[in-house]
Amino acid sequence: MAVLFYLDDGRTDWWREVFRAEAGGLEILEIDEIDDKTAIEYAFVWQPPAGELAKYPNLKAIFYLGAGVDDVLNDPDWPRAIPLVRLVDDNLTARMVEYITLHCLMSLRDQSALDALQAAKRWQEDIFPATAADVRVGIMGFGVLGQACSKILCGLGFQVAGWSTRKKSVAGVTSFAGDGELPDFLEGTDILVSLLPLTEATRGILDLELFRQLRRARQRPDQFNGPVLINAGRGGTQKESDIVAALAEGALYSATLDVFESEPLPASSPLWGHPQVRISPHCASVTDPRFAVQRLVRNIRDFEAGKGLENAVDYGRGY
Ligand code: NDP
Ligand code: OXD
Repeated sequence: MAVLFYLDDGRTDWWREVFRAEAGGLEILEIDEIDDKTAIEYAFVWQPPAGELAKYPNLKAIFYLGAGVDDVLNDPDWPRAIPLVRLVDDNLTARMVEYITLHCLMSLRDQSALDALQAAKRWQEDIFPATAADVRVGIMGFGVLGQACSKILCGLGFQVAGWSTRKKSVAGVTSFAGDGELPDFLEGTDILVSLLPLTEATRGILDLELFRQLRRARQRPDQFNGPVLINAGRGGTQKESDIVAALAEGALYSATLDVFESEPLPASSPLWGHPQVRISPHCASVTDPRFAVQRLVRNIRDFEAGKGLENAVDYGRGY
């Protein structure tokens, strides 16, 4: 069974090595190795060239090598009649949980203030850090990744809420749904974590007006420095000029950003040098072939055995 493989990130050799060990009877081919396009039945792809997937008339399903599929939806020639399955994989999830937990704890303990004290060789006696039990984390985009993060954050003692399109029932978490419940969700949030997909409905949603609705310091019982934004969803959901404005007026105390309106983040961006902004280059989570290939092969076997496709993208919703 022939499978198209496309990933343009310099790690193709590693993937090939894992395919050799794990892909059983599947014949994995890159674009320039394919003589007969009609032989291709499946595709494993990440950001393929626009129009490419339309060239394979016998495709049965496309398996994306990442969780977010917004790039696909920009391709007018994408074969939308073919099911598209996004990557849901325990290791991808675990890596995101590590990132979000790390930055919630850094914010809880105001690590940037401690870094500044260290840089100044200053021993300040009166530090009394906030504790997780007093801090509310609100997760926008309460799907696979958001819910996994919520479990660890609850375990650490944070008060956790989730916001999604449809209500969720997750132990220990307050669920908010839809635009009507967004204000209530925001006014109870100290650390805003965004794990939203980029769709027409979420584009630019993280703006100044939204930041101004977060719980302000004067409403809090302790010394927590907030509100805080952590965005590891997609950069197109944020307005970066509004983040800078919100930091200036105090609607945000700090921001941790893994994703940007334009990637790579241009050198001219004021975010790079801002003392209250932490930047990571879209690596909050990554797809690791040692884990993902097993999942991809299992998906094909299950599909061939007549089982339904899990985690199929709803083209109408856009995620
Ligand atoms: P899911 O599809 O499982 O979750 C998406 C969540 O967003 C769902 O809860 C959904 O609601 C909610 N949502 C979507 N649109 C809206 C809206 N308009 N209003 C309110 N809620 C909305 O995706 P994952 O959790 O697997 O991944 C989330 C995103 O994380 C990916 O799309 C990708 O962009 C990003 N990502 C980033 C990575 C990084 O390294 N920075 C790595 C991996 C993923 P409902 O549940 O009701 O449908
Ligand atoms: C993803 C990503 O969507 O890495 O998987 O951003």
